[in-house]
Amino acid sequence: MNVGIDLIHFSTSDYYLGLDVFAEEKNIDVDKFYIGIGQEKMSIAPPDEDVVSLAAKAAAPILEQIDKDSITAILFATESGVDQSKSAGVFLHGLLNLSSRCRVVEFKHACYSGAAALQMATMMVRANPKEKVLVIAADIAKYDVDTSGEATQGCGAVAMLITESPRIIAIEPGSGYHTEDVMDFWRPNQRKTALVDGKYSTKVYLHSLKQAWQHFTEETGKTFSDINHFCYHIPFTKMAEKAHQTLAKVAGVKLTDEEFQAQTLPSQVYNRIVGNSYSASLFVGFCSLLDNLKENLSERRISFFSYGSGCVAEFFTGLMQPGYEKVLMTTSHTRQIEQREPLTYAQYLAFYHEVEDDVENIEFEVNNKGPYRLAGIRDHKRYYQAV
Ligand code: HMG
Repeated sequence: MNVGIDLIHFSTSDYYLGLDVFAEEKNIDVDKFYIGIGQEKMSIAPPDEDVVSLAAKAAAPILEQIDKDSITAILFATESGVDQSKSAGVFLHGLLNLSSRCRVVEFKHACYSGAAALQMATMMVRANPKEKVLVIAADIAKYDVDTSGEATQGCGAVAMLITESPRIIAIEPGSGYHTEDVMDFWRPNQRKTALVDGKYSTKVYLHSLKQAWQHFTEETGKTFSDINHFCYHIPFTKMAEKAHQTLAKVAGVKLTDEEFQAQTLPSQVYNRIVGNSYSASLFVGFCSLLDNLKENLSERRISFFSYGSGCVAEFFTGLMQPGYEKVLMTTSHTRQIEQREPLTYAQYLAFYHEVEDDVENIEFEVNNKGPYRLAGIRDHKRYYQAV
């Protein structure tokens, strides 16, 4: 039985900060960002946007195409969750008016949780083909101002419907994984922003890739040349390039520039202008590949490398399904990206600082253009609304 992604749609916020504006403000050569880390823009969430409103924006176009009461579970992956107890998925469930005959749970391990939720969903469907699982990966990447991470912020959500006989990609059984207790990036409970040992984190990422790849080859017998396109977790696009160079070297493969670019570049187009979206980033990269590659991908094998700091990593593959192009939502993706409004550095800082920690009551000014927004917090309870 084939199990995998039947529909996929991603969302991002209505605003961005250009790294040209950022470079000018910080008096840094812009090529450090455009070339050095391979980023041009970061999507910035206004105060009335959070992972729930982003997730609802990602999921709504999927729900319009199916009987939404047929969804049996929501697995919500995030590391920027909105409550220590109640899962973000239950807020989403209420906002989208889903059936009460549906289970909901939140997944966490840094950027890895999206891949973990996807794998868990495929196992649920393999065990019972009647299951239709909505996987959401949604995050707002936020670092302290004037730290090395500030240029690698961003936000986004990806919604994926996991079913049997999927129309887009069948996830193949067998994967390679690696876990190691390290402190490369973390966010203690009281903090809104992540702490990071930046250079160390890039080394651990590449080390984990080698380990997960080794395990993947032992488990599946597949080799580098069995894979046509490679999707990586993309904190910034240069990281994905370094990952692909590392993998080719470990696998003993020499690639021409043309081959190297064909295997990786289409999956980087969106991330370069959206920024890091943590758990969603790998799947924003997959959407980017689907929407930007001109050739047809039917029956091609795609690999996915998920890396979550701290750290857990996994390498797995999927086979593209014939006719997948008929169900893509490319226009919605490009429209959202193109319609974003640029922010000045001062406007970005105003959004950044608006929400105080532990706020008890607040009504948010309308900046989020919808379709869903966080309206306010009353007596510590969050209220959402359709715009
Ligand atoms: P930095 O100190 O700002 O930058 O840190 P740098 O000085 O290392 O420069 C970056 C690159 O730009 C270098 O190239 C420079 O040579 C180059 P490299 O040596 O890396 O090849 N450069 C230039 N190139 C052209 N023209 C110029 C120029 N100037 C410099 N004028 C760092 C960079 C990535 C460390 C920082 O942005 C950071 O801390 N980011 C946050 C952490 C991060 O994204 N880590 C990635 C791996 S961990 C991960 O992916 C997990 C994560 O998503 C979280 C999760 O799992 O939840 C983060």
